[in-house]
Amino acid sequence: MENKIRQIKQSFEEDLRAALPTGRLADIRIKYLSRRQGMIPSLLQEFRGLPSEQKPAIGRSLNHLKQHIEEEIRKGENHARTADRFRPQEDFDITLPGVPPALGSIHPISQIQEILEGIFLEMGYSIEEGPEVETDFYNFEALHMPKDHPARDMQDTFYLPGGLLLRTHTSPVQIRTMKKQRPPLKIIAPGKAFRRDSDISHSPMFHQLEGLVVDEGITFGDLKGTLEHLCRAVFDEGTRVRLRPSYFPFVEPGAEYDISCLVCDGKGCRSCGSTGWLEMGGAGMVHPEVFRTVGLDPEKFSGFAFGLGIDRIAMLRYGIDDIRLFFENDIRFLRQIQDCGGY
Ligand code: DAH
Repeated sequence: MENKIRQIKQSFEEDLRAALPTGRLADIRIKYLSRRQGMIPSLLQEFRGLPSEQKPAIGRSLNHLKQHIEEEIRKGENHARTADRFRPQEDFDITLPGVPPALGSIHPISQIQEILEGIFLEMGYSIEEGPEVETDFYNFEALHMPKDHPARDMQDTFYLPGGLLLRTHTSPVQIRTMKKQRPPLKIIAPGKAFRRDSDISHSPMFHQLEGLVVDEGITFGDLKGTLEHLCRAVFDEGTRVRLRPSYFPFVEPGAEYDISCLVCDGKGCRSCGSTGWLEMGGAGMVHPEVFRTVGLDPEKFSGFAFGLGIDRIAMLRYGIDDIRLFFENDIRFLRQIQDCGGY
């Protein structure tokens, strides 16, 4: 019986070696394991007739052999299955062109933001960031809007627990920057802002870009020149800029700036409500009180600040009349806007 076991083991090893490369192990399984004709079951049959003193030793080797055979066949079958998956099909034509992977594209708002950043980096500005969850101090107080200030009503604020809020503009980054760096300062701060407002031209989450320049001897003329350069670079060389007196608590004097209508070039049309001008944003000279809050001497330093709506620029540049389209993320819309021109 011991001999038989050894022989079967040997013949199994040979059969296995021959069968492995073909991946066909079914025959071996039948030959060794099948209940009716397999060699192992018939050995077990024989084993039952042995005198009981031989049984323990023989039983052990028989069990070993059975387990070994089962294990090897299982491994061989697994291997064959994996190999099968990667084996080229015979009817596979390797000369067929591949399926090109679908390419994504940069979101239109990010495209405009990158264009704007490029314009300012070229003028020597650096880029600053601030948190979207702000404190009352940075969003209002330090910008010269104390608790009872009526200008707070203009901003439909999302308040959060713990005295925090979602910043209603990117202007708090002015304060953060002036508190941590000394002039000369030349920064832009692009980012998200939030207000409780939603219609065709307002989204509760929108994008702004803040600009701030502080040094000795900065003038309103510097502000106007910067805005002109900016608008001509984003739109076209012929764009005109005008400043209208306006009020923002953190600048004095304050202004709103417009560009000549991109559609009618100032003649008056539906896009500009017959005025010939399109509103772009707010700007002004940094208020002395703001300088004092951050510990800068308003007698020594002066500066200008401006804000603009990135989404609004994107709408104008791409001729889109509903801001919400940018945030629905319909791939059919996004795919149409691939800005390769520009800056
Ligand atoms: N923060 C203002 C807003 O969101 C825009 C603004 C106005 C920014 C005047 C400025 C500025 O820097 O000087 O409505």
